[in-house]
Amino acid sequence: MVWFNPFFPSPQRDNGYDVSDYYGIDPAMGTMADLEELVAALDSKGIGVMLDMVLNHTSTEHEWFQRALAGERDYQDYYYLRPAAPDGGLPNNWVSKFGGPAWERFGNTDQYYLHLYDRTQADLNWHNPRVREELAAVVRFWRDKGVRGFRFDVINVIGKPWELPSAPSGVDDRTMYTDGESVVGYLRELAAASYGAAGESITVGEMSSTSIERCIAYSHPQLGALSMVFNFHHLKVDYVDGRKWTKTPFDFLELKRLLTDWSLQMQVGGGWNAWFWNNHDQPRAVDRFADPLRYPAESATMLATAIHLLRGTPYVYMGEEIGMTDPRYSAIDEYVDVEAINAYAELVRSGVGPAEAFDIVRSKARDNARTPMQWDAGPNAGFSSGTPWLRPTNHESVNVAAEESAGRILPYYRHLIRLRKTHPIIAEGQVESFALEHPQVFGYIRRLGGESLLVLTNFYGDPTAVDILPEFITGSVLISNYGRSRAPLTSRCQLRPYEALAILTTSHEEI
Ligand code: GLC
Repeated sequence: MVWFNPFFPSPQRDNGYDVSDYYGIDPAMGTMADLEELVAALDSKGIGVMLDMVLNHTSTEHEWFQRALAGERDYQDYYYLRPAAPDGGLPNNWVSKFGGPAWERFGNTDQYYLHLYDRTQADLNWHNPRVREELAAVVRFWRDKGVRGFRFDVINVIGKPWELPSAPSGVDDRTMYTDGESVVGYLRELAAASYGAAGESITVGEMSSTSIERCIAYSHPQLGALSMVFNFHHLKVDYVDGRKWTKTPFDFLELKRLLTDWSLQMQVGGGWNAWFWNNHDQPRAVDRFADPLRYPAESATMLATAIHLLRGTPYVYMGEEIGMTDPRYSAIDEYVDVEAINAYAELVRSGVGPAEAFDIVRSKARDNARTPMQWDAGPNAGFSSGTPWLRPTNHESVNVAAEESAGRILPYYRHLIRLRKTHPIIAEGQVESFALEHPQVFGYIRRLGGESLLVLTNFYGDPTAVDILPEFITGSVLISNYGRSRAPLTSRCQLRPYEALAILTTSHEEI
């Protein structure tokens, strides 16, 4: 499937995640006829379309919000409107994920509306059955267009308690509205009214600040309502004390622990992970976890191997399959994302020097992943003859044309995808942990029937060695990013910088 970020009409305050009309296509992106052609063209190649459903909030330019502002009571009940607190302060102490309080004055009234994201993204009141019916109708509309995949944006924050209580002092306010008890019920209702039972659509929920236990509940084939879930814990291992706008080298052992725990515990509980290193909200993983300057191909292919052979469904984000990196910008005004702009201002206000604040923003900004797709070495990376919203900076060397002719990353991704289709052990096998204490190697074992697969990835630019089980010494190499054709033949397996290796064995007893 191809997942598209939202292309619905939007004032684009948050890159289309501020939807002003769920039933249209933003004229800047195309037309409904284009969408229909896209669905049909991909379908003819056996590829489905996954749309991004932003159902936690609408743009304040959405008709519902505008009618609420105009005084229509029915539409005011679509949102969370609250009077000021008795002391005259804001209705509660929640903060916006994009900075500042989560409340904004509702027009000229003495009420406030809740916005967990930008102040132009008003949270929808899922307690209201009419809201839930409206949103199900939206999903049905796109299903009727032949869309069979849905990604649900920040879907685990739709179950807020009606009272919207302030977080007690010392408690993270996110815990007050995240993973509420009602989320699973709302999703099951939505499934019944729109996207259908398992198998009728492929669905993935974006889960912010969640837990394994809740994600099992969301994605369990019988108890849950989604095919799979995205969690973000493994992408916070380079945060200081859980805070994004900080800079520190990543904690490798913590990364391994998270990938392993989420794999094993979701397996035990019957949940299903969606695995990814990159998306439109994350700086490029090659810059965070590897070395795209000294080892561009090894870095990209090692990271891909680490998640593509795991239990779960891997996602490839635009450009990672050719090794795209963060842009090399040198001034803050090159960044356009509302979150980055707010974060920079906030850092400077809190006393961080401008150079350090810029360095932090440069390493964490979502714009890092939003530069145009690099098709070729020409102007604007061959993406557009217009002026792109962000400037590509290394398309002379990193581009699709170069990868197609002599690259090592794109063919490797194709190989990984083919392997998942041809080797059931990758899609269906059980997963076991491996070498949890090793300071450089992330590895795991997959098993299905009489087959076993050992996956080894060296996350560093220094060579290392790891002891492997005897059964793998003479196995066959399933994939290698160093072109190895033979298994190590010794129990001590040497790995080169950013090397990835997968060895497959078949036990004769079980054939
Ligand atoms: C999700 C989207 C992100 C957006 C936010 C609010 O996290 O991936 O891009 O800003 O939700 O809709």
